[in-house]
Amino acid sequence: MCGIVGYIGNQNSVPILIEGLKRLEYRGYDSAGVASINLGKSDLIKVKGKVSALEEKVKHEQLQGNIGIGHTRWATHGAPNETNAHPHFNSDKTLYLIHNGIIENYSVLKTALISKGYNFNSETDSEVLVHLIDSFIKKGNDLFNSVRYSLNEVEGAYGICVIYSDEPDKIIVAKKGSPLVIGIGDGENYIASDVNALIAYTSQIVYLEDDEIAVVYKDKFQARSISDEEIVKEVHEVKIALEEISKGGYQHYMLKEIMEQPESVRNSMRGRLLYEDGISKLGGLEGFDNRIAYSRRIVISACGTSWHAGLVGEYMLEQYAGIPVEVDYASEFRYRNPVIQPDDTMIFISQSGETADTLAAMKEAKRKGALVLGVCNVVGSSIARESTAGVYIHAGPEIGVASTKAFTSQLVVLSLITLLAARKRNLSLIDGKKIIEEIDSLPDKIARILKINDQIEHIAEKFVDAKNFLYLGRGYNFPVALEGALKLKEISYIHAEGYPAAEMKHGPIALIDENMPTVVIAPKDSVYDKVLSNIEEVKARKGKVIAIANEDDDQIDKLVDHVIKVPQTIRMLMPILTVIPLQLLAYHIAVKKGLNVDQPRNLAKSVTVE
Ligand code: F6R
Repeated sequence: MCGIVGYIGNQNSVPILIEGLKRLEYRGYDSAGVASINLGKSDLIKVKGKVSALEEKVKHEQLQGNIGIGHTRWATHGAPNETNAHPHFNSDKTLYLIHNGIIENYSVLKTALISKGYNFNSETDSEVLVHLIDSFIKKGNDLFNSVRYSLNEVEGAYGICVIYSDEPDKIIVAKKGSPLVIGIGDGENYIASDVNALIAYTSQIVYLEDDEIAVVYKDKFQARSISDEEIVKEVHEVKIALEEISKGGYQHYMLKEIMEQPESVRNSMRGRLLYEDGISKLGGLEGFDNRIAYSRRIVISACGTSWHAGLVGEYMLEQYAGIPVEVDYASEFRYRNPVIQPDDTMIFISQSGETADTLAAMKEAKRKGALVLGVCNVVGSSIARESTAGVYIHAGPEIGVASTKAFTSQLVVLSLITLLAARKRNLSLIDGKKIIEEIDSLPDKIARILKINDQIEHIAEKFVDAKNFLYLGRGYNFPVALEGALKLKEISYIHAEGYPAAEMKHGPIALIDENMPTVVIAPKDSVYDKVLSNIEEVKARKGKVIAIANEDDDQIDKLVDHVIKVPQTIRMLMPILTVIPLQLLAYHIAVKKGLNVDQPRNLAKSVTVE
């Protein structure tokens, strides 16, 4: 959600903070702010809007200092305006705090602080923390202990950075439920909510765990538990090249990430296909292969696009491995009392590896004794670290808020898990080899689809003014219909719904008229004829149809208004191809509407609050 950065060293912190915030802006972008301490005197600048506005204001007002903190906000409590922007501060303007997360008991704390005479400027939950810390300082405690005592009173999730002009040699950081990393430099140190903000400066990263608090000086750091025990932290070498997080000449990250898919999908399967044995090799699952293959049941849990990937995984695992599968929204899983048995396997899918609901569901599954696997993109993320075993999708950094390449890579990894489990059970060598050939051919097929980008852009032009869209698919392509609709609504703000094609006649058909475009995913598979019938039903009501069909399908052309052709593959892998035109369609419609596709309104990349 919100992005956090901090710097302490000999340089002016402010340009470093601004640079870091730009790399984090995909996490939240409704307001931003920085605070720094210069020669014992602190100062603060905040703006409503984007980091570019903050950059301008900072230049104009010439803010500087060797120690500073910066924040880009995604509003939870209080409107996105300058007052609610972080950093928050005490009444003396000596203490500054940035926060990512939600303080659940903030109203109780706020009432108590008001009764002690504290005044609040903002409507945020975060401001409570700064006054609470101030109240401990006023009792004679140092900054470290004041933060620690305050956090002991707090319920909820936080990643925080605190600076204090009376102790200008340190930044205090702490984490619970929201990500926070320390970047180790040479005579200088950095803090961020996401490694991406730091890779221009250092590859030496320390991941703070929940209930840990650290004092970061310019030449060292000390980590302790919230109950004040010393903790020795490992420094990790993180290998992300700066080019991987730049736009690389594309107009938007989203387009770059869509176009990267031949490569990202290749990276997800690289070194993992054992053709001779017709099986996959997943290092992160070593020692658990049989346990997974002979699970009584597999439960997949995730949110949003990752949940859609899980739905495809259900079809894959049931068809090939013959294991019963359920797919659950992580947010629902965590608040039910799900029946989980020790011989169940749970797979948690998350691009960011930081989604609060998924992380909480994972912890609950662990408590209930299931084998807990993670399928993540971000190396070292909380979900990756929390899982018992798992597989990285290796899609590379995904910055565009709408998930694209992570989805196709998640599907590749799910197909590899399916192949592993299926070969351990009943799948023949010959069928295993056939699946491997098909997986291996995906990057070339994706590249073929990307070549018709112009044609898809042309179709998009005709639907810019549509107010609603319906997406239909059957079997493996039902989750693709959901994903296509999600992509469209989140970046173009056009209302869109995905449905299993056969469900249309049970309700949504009432919506169809000449103003309601329907996207139908209709590859030539065992349900093709049934999907054609659904198309006829739409056409009979004057609906406009855009079909996603196979290259060798000439029959469909005369039935529909527009057709986008994709190569053929086995059913299990078809979603990896059919989703790509839907990503491009959503992208072009949003761009033609003049919208910021990389930073759609109200959204943030990494949903670290409930
Ligand atoms: C949609 C999108 C979101 C995420 C969801 C889960 O384009 O990006 O729906 O898929 O917030 O995020 P992760 O996969 O990071 O857990």
